[in-house]
Amino acid sequence: MPEKIEALNGSDITLQREVLIVGTGPAGSTAALSLARLGIKPMVINKFGWTARTPRAHITNPRTLEVLTDLGVSDDAKLYGTPFDLMGENTYCTSLAGEELGRIRTWGVKPDRALDYASASPEKFIDLPQNYMENILIGSAAHSGAEVLNHTEFLSFEQDGEGVTSTLLNCTTGVTFKVRSKFLIGADGANSKVAEQAELPFEGQMGKAGSINIVFDADLTKFVAHRPSVLYWVVQTGSDVGGLGIGTVRMVRPWHRWLTIWGYDLNDGQPDLDDHAARQIVHNLIGDASVDVRIDSVSYWTVNEFYATKLSNGRVFCMGDAVHRHPPTKGLGSNVSIQDAYNLSWKMAAVLKGDAGPEILETYSAERAPVAKQTVLGANRSVTTFPPILGALGLFDTKDPAQMVKNIDALADPSGEAVERRSALRQALEGSHDVFDNPGIELNQRYQSDAVVPGNTPVQTFNGNPEIAVHISSEPGARLPHAWVSEDQKLVSTLYIAGHGNFCLFTGPSGRGWIDAAEAVSKATGVPITVHIIGPGQRYQDVYGDFAAIREVSDSGALLVRPDVYVGWRAHEWSEGAQDNLMSAISRILAKPASERQTKVA
Ligand code: FDA
Repeated sequence: MPEKIEALNGSDITLQREVLIVGTGPAGSTAALSLARLGIKPMVINKFGWTARTPRAHITNPRTLEVLTDLGVSDDAKLYGTPFDLMGENTYCTSLAGEELGRIRTWGVKPDRALDYASASPEKFIDLPQNYMENILIGSAAHSGAEVLNHTEFLSFEQDGEGVTSTLLNCTTGVTFKVRSKFLIGADGANSKVAEQAELPFEGQMGKAGSINIVFDADLTKFVAHRPSVLYWVVQTGSDVGGLGIGTVRMVRPWHRWLTIWGYDLNDGQPDLDDHAARQIVHNLIGDASVDVRIDSVSYWTVNEFYATKLSNGRVFCMGDAVHRHPPTKGLGSNVSIQDAYNLSWKMAAVLKGDAGPEILETYSAERAPVAKQTVLGANRSVTTFPPILGALGLFDTKDPAQMVKNIDALADPSGEAVERRSALRQALEGSHDVFDNPGIELNQRYQSDAVVPGNTPVQTFNGNPEIAVHISSEPGARLPHAWVSEDQKLVSTLYIAGHGNFCLFTGPSGRGWIDAAEAVSKATGVPITVHIIGPGQRYQDVYGDFAAIREVSDSGALLVRPDVYVGWRAHEWSEGAQDNLMSAISRILAKPASERQTKVA
């Protein structure tokens, strides 16, 4: 039970906890939920009274849904999320009521990308606004045993060889108190105090452009229901468009709750939009001033290109926007934050339970810092795909708004120049696909660290664009390939057989020897390793032959899968030394040599 802090003088209080998490955003609440489900009860704090009120991030990609499934909350996510089939018709127009300039199919709708996603994941995109996502995660974390303190602000920390002492402020009483924890997780967003005090090294630039979010209620069914999408891109001629260069109308709830993103020039300072000015922007984007609009909120944020090259310092670990800050293009923000937390949590739980050595925690930064860099650079690069659209529309040819309108209208001309411009526009619209789904970035993340052991099977060469095409492989450091297999004649993904906080080993019917090998290694280490034989007469059957096609090892070979569903090691075939090889692989992944384990077991 937590101490009764009101009965004590705050400055004298030092609470003892295993893990303190700062922040209940997507990163912090996922860390709290993952740790709680692994039997560690973290304290998680938020300086505000409750979770995010505004929708903020929303695109929830297949990899994140796989993580949410493993954490037991994907049913709730799908209940509150807008489904895939209402997401994909991204429309470019002069206003919702005005001229349509073109559409592109996004979020896995385009046929070639649909194929990529279907072969790589059992999940499809959903649109889950952040205010719903956070509540699902933190609610489930609390139910699983995490101790959630709102109105509690992190002020500072000091660390030594044994732990971290954080000073916190109870915002209700004004009393400061201390928490002594073995580890501190900074999931405190883009203005992270934890990352700053941990002196994490950063590259890039904060504050490249200004953006305004306006959340509003309006029934826009007649403008959008026949071309359902989460994003409508509005080119407003003559407007001083900053930020993305094009105004965005984003669906929050179909089709009555919305968010517009509008740019402002940082050199002019942050504007102070009143209700009237906000409604004016919204009406311009809708293109129909008769629509009843109720402004809910106006908030301001900046486009950043800033990432940490190291995500931890000693016992302090940072994740989410604390270590990667970027524009919302590509829809990666909360996805990458959730996946950071999922990566760190099983390692931290293993150390706290004595199953792993503390060095395993260094692999968090080794594995996730490259993802942070790719996310930040990719999201910023994709913003540059908008100017060619404006160029093809002739909007850079003049500063006169009336002439801009004429230039857009001239697209309909039968002349040769218009033919070329129509072709340039189509090309520019297709080029903007970079702003949306990127199956490679989302699903190809490869980890290289001491928690990944190269196997004896050659790595297949991949010639596709690594950001666009999915690269399915069982090479160590890759996410376990998805294959539909059956259990009691019902289909189940290999991804959902793995996970659940445990190591497991996949093999074929000729790999029965792995059962005894895994049992012996589990006994010696105290770390459970479940063996799944996929094949006839087994619990899981390879009904489509998909598993045999993707496993890249022989029928007697094995894939050792970490609790985060990444392949940690693989053996091409069963051999006499298989048990020793498995023992050394698990010892290396968990940064705990067999000699230390024997001492522990003895
Ligand atoms: P996040 O910022 O969500 O959470 C930080 C948490 O830390 C919060 O709970 C906060 O209260 C807490 N905290 C901070 N300092 C603290 C302290 N000192 N003590 C205690 N608690 C503290 N993305 C996108 O894709 N599309 C969009 O439109 C937007 N729009 C947008 C608007 C606004 C206003 C913001 C702030 C952000 C966005 N984003 C966005 C970005 C997106 O929201 C972001 O990528 C994710 O929320 C990152 O999740 P984190 O959990 O890392 O941080």
